[in-house]
Amino acid sequence: MQVIVNTNENINGTLVLPLWQDSKNMVSGSESGVQRGLKNQIETILSDGDFKAKSGSAMTLAGTEGGKALLIGLGKEEDATLQSMREAGAKVTSSLKKIHGKTLTVKFSGMEDSHMAAFVEGMILRDYSYDHYKTKDEDHDDTEIIAHVTCELEKNEALANSAKISSAVATGVYLARDLGNAPPNDMYPMAFAEQAREFGRKHDNVDVKIINYDEARSLGMGGLVGVGMGSYRKPCMVIFEINGDKPGPSPCIVGKGITFDTGGISIKPSPSMDEMKYDMHGSATTFGLMQALVASGHKDRVIGVTCMAENMPSSNAQRPGDVITTYSGKTVEVLNTDAEGRLVLSDGLWYTGTELNPSYIIDLATLTGACVVALGHEASGLWSNNDELLNNIKEAGEHCGEIAWPMPLFKAFEKEMTDSKIADVRNLGAGRWGGSNTAAAFLKQFIPNMGDSDEQIPWAHLDIAGTAWGAKSNKMVKTGATGIHVRTLHHLITGQ
Ligand code: BES
Ligand code: ZN
Ligand code: ZN
Repeated sequence: MQVIVNTNENINGTLVLPLWQDSKNMVSGSESGVQRGLKNQIETILSDGDFKAKSGSAMTLAGTEGGKALLIGLGKEEDATLQSMREAGAKVTSSLKKIHGKTLTVKFSGMEDSHMAAFVEGMILRDYSYDHYKTKDEDHDDTEIIAHVTCELEKNEALANSAKISSAVATGVYLARDLGNAPPNDMYPMAFAEQAREFGRKHDNVDVKIINYDEARSLGMGGLVGVGMGSYRKPCMVIFEINGDKPGPSPCIVGKGITFDTGGISIKPSPSMDEMKYDMHGSATTFGLMQALVASGHKDRVIGVTCMAENMPSSNAQRPGDVITTYSGKTVEVLNTDAEGRLVLSDGLWYTGTELNPSYIIDLATLTGACVVALGHEASGLWSNNDELLNNIKEAGEHCGEIAWPMPLFKAFEKEMTDSKIADVRNLGAGRWGGSNTAAAFLKQFIPNMGDSDEQIPWAHLDIAGTAWGAKSNKMVKTGATGIHVRTLHHLITGQ
């Protein structure tokens, strides 16, 4: 979608009119440029109460002299939030049918800057579908939607700026969704790495380094190697560096990238196993964030690390009972090969902490079914060893309508994960309770201390198992991968 903030009053294509609940007439200012026939019809509908403009509602007017219109309900003005405005904007895009055409004019009048910005952002975010693998029929129309947007003259510049940032960040959200939605026969560890390499080639301020299977083995990355060695498609680690010439320490984002999770020898049941193609969404968000930062022109150094592997059962796969030595030197007793995300992350986190000069580390992972049991699809779980970092992420998530909900890192969970009889750490809790917390406690064992101190590097973990796909209440996405937290992290890092 191309958004053009106009200063004139012309209406191009279908008029889109956002309305507060129970409006009895068009807001003064919003009727300018609207032809009489259409204006009369809208006024009649509103004064008769035939469109109440409740939040989530939409009404199309067609066949009227003076053009077509799409009325969008914003709900009550006093209840409006950034998220309700985003959702109303998304409703525009999801309501579009052939009769609306590809050109729109959104008319705002008397509305706050932040509300207009969020509405436009919602329109953009919902304008995504994944049809790479569909054969296109003859009347397939790929033309981009052109959305003209008008508001009071003095608000134009701010709206144009926010629309520009939203469009830039959305390219990262779309990329994350593309990567997440890609089928696992085409999206395997080295395919992801090649796409990252291509991204690095395209941008002067991006450096991409790939640690391949052989290098991972010689570096002693036993977690990554253990998970990935059972697959013909071998594992790798991808390191993105943006603006590497700027001095660190810098934000480091680490993503779980299991391109397909069968469970390995501890194999998963068949129903819905296809959804485990999304098990690389942590890496998809990481890559998407890099794209968003580049597109929005971020000037400081940021690092992304993705731990890529395919978790397969085979004669060469790791077994329950194996003990592996991770990059940190710590040994792990692998009691369940389906708890593989934490194993690849153990190497990614230690590598990031010791080699990449982080100011803080945030990892994202579709880590546990237990997190979905705890929070459903409404929020990602958020754990941290640092209250300030936790609060900053929580606030950024709230601002973006991508909720990250604080969860505990009790000492008891760490104890549970470090009482293996034969290794330093075990990859499975002693019982099934609190499974997302014990997983987080496992990850914490692989955060190095800062310099010579006995304090760990600030670190946070986002379990996105419930939010990476399948969230019906997420109005920004029709189906499939959500691109979750690209916007949260972009906002956290840039303030934009
Ligand atoms: N990728 C899964 C977690 C998952 C499950 C995400 C369902 C989204 C939906 C992860 O690798 C896994 O299998 N975790 C196990 C851990 C258990 C063996 C301790 C789980 O959650 O059952
Ligand atoms: Zn698993
Ligand atoms: Zn997994």
